[in-house]
Amino acid sequence: MSTILAIESSCDDTGAAVIKDGKILSNVVATQDVHVKYGGVVPELASRAHQQNIVPVVDQALKQANISKSDLSAVAFTRGPGLLGALLVGTSFAKALALGLDIPLIDVNHMQAHILAHFIDEPRPRFPFLCLTVSGGHTQIVKVTAPLEMEVLGETLDDAVGEAFDKSAKLLGLPYPGGPLIDKYAKEGNPLAFEFPEVASQGLNFSFSGIKTAFLNFLRKEQHKDASFIENNLPDICASLQHRLIEILMSKLRRASRETGINEIAIAGGVSANSGLRNRLQELSEKNGWTVHVPAFQYCTDNAAMIAMAAHFKFEAGEFCGQDVSPDPRMKL
Ligand code: KG4
Ligand code: ZN
Repeated sequence: MSTILAIESSCDDTGAAVIKDGKILSNVVATQDVHVKYGGVVPELASRAHQQNIVPVVDQALKQANISKSDLSAVAFTRGPGLLGALLVGTSFAKALALGLDIPLIDVNHMQAHILAHFIDEPRPRFPFLCLTVSGGHTQIVKVTAPLEMEVLGETLDDAVGEAFDKSAKLLGLPYPGGPLIDKYAKEGNPLAFEFPEVASQGLNFSFSGIKTAFLNFLRKEQHKDASFIENNLPDICASLQHRLIEILMSKLRRASRETGINEIAIAGGVSANSGLRNRLQELSEKNGWTVHVPAFQYCTDNAAMIAMAAHFKFEAGEFCGQDVSPDPRMKL
């Protein structure tokens, strides 16, 4: 029996959640709007906003769960990967609370938590399964053999796919984060209107920097011919770009499934909210005989419920950390 408070502060969302015996009781997130006008996350501003948000967000999570601090069995927090100053806020807060309440601390890997978000609701994936984790900072294919046993089979050698979405959106004059907006415009466009090159990358690894450069050159060339090219063709541009990004992801995922013989497939991370990706995965599941797992929208982008779920598994396994723990911005799986 356990009741755990979990805190997420790795990037620009401050989150807190309560989990009791593996069931999420509350999941509160405060998204920081301060970054929009800068076109990307400003680390120093993210830390300051976490500092302002963390107390009200934790209070709200406890209140919604109808749990008082004295009911808690442990405090969990995101140790990494993420922005150092942002991680420090959640880490310090969790350490102080655990010390004050004299209860154990659980450090959680943010990427592991994205994957374990699949265990919040039924149906849960069966082991072993492959997870394509696609976020603003990461693009990985992970083989998951048990809740806390994961192996990275391939990852991006340069930009993350979320970054490719956001940077391309910026070139189109769309506000940050542009990924969801590309998704929105793509729904009305033709994915085959424009062709972007396939980018070669070794094995199960990804590369997205080439497509970003190709996209920039494409826009420059077309705008030279027609200054209103973007506004006249926005849905087609978004649909074509999104199509190419999804095909890059899917070709590696198909290869991973072939090489491992695993047909249980999951996606996780912010980009897994993308409707084009979800549709394509559904199509492929029928074609390849895959059982596909897609998380609920609120568990795709950064949230503390996934940190709480990971903490639940670590609690069961007796995996705690000491008060000497510090954030790890480059934490590996
Ligand atoms: O997992 P996440 O919330 O934060 C990180 O850990 O990075 O992922 C954020 C990323 C951003 O790049 C955002 O543009 C992207 O997820 N994203 C999307 C969509 N929703 C969020 N990208 C494409 N289509 C979407 N619907
Ligand atoms: Zn994330």
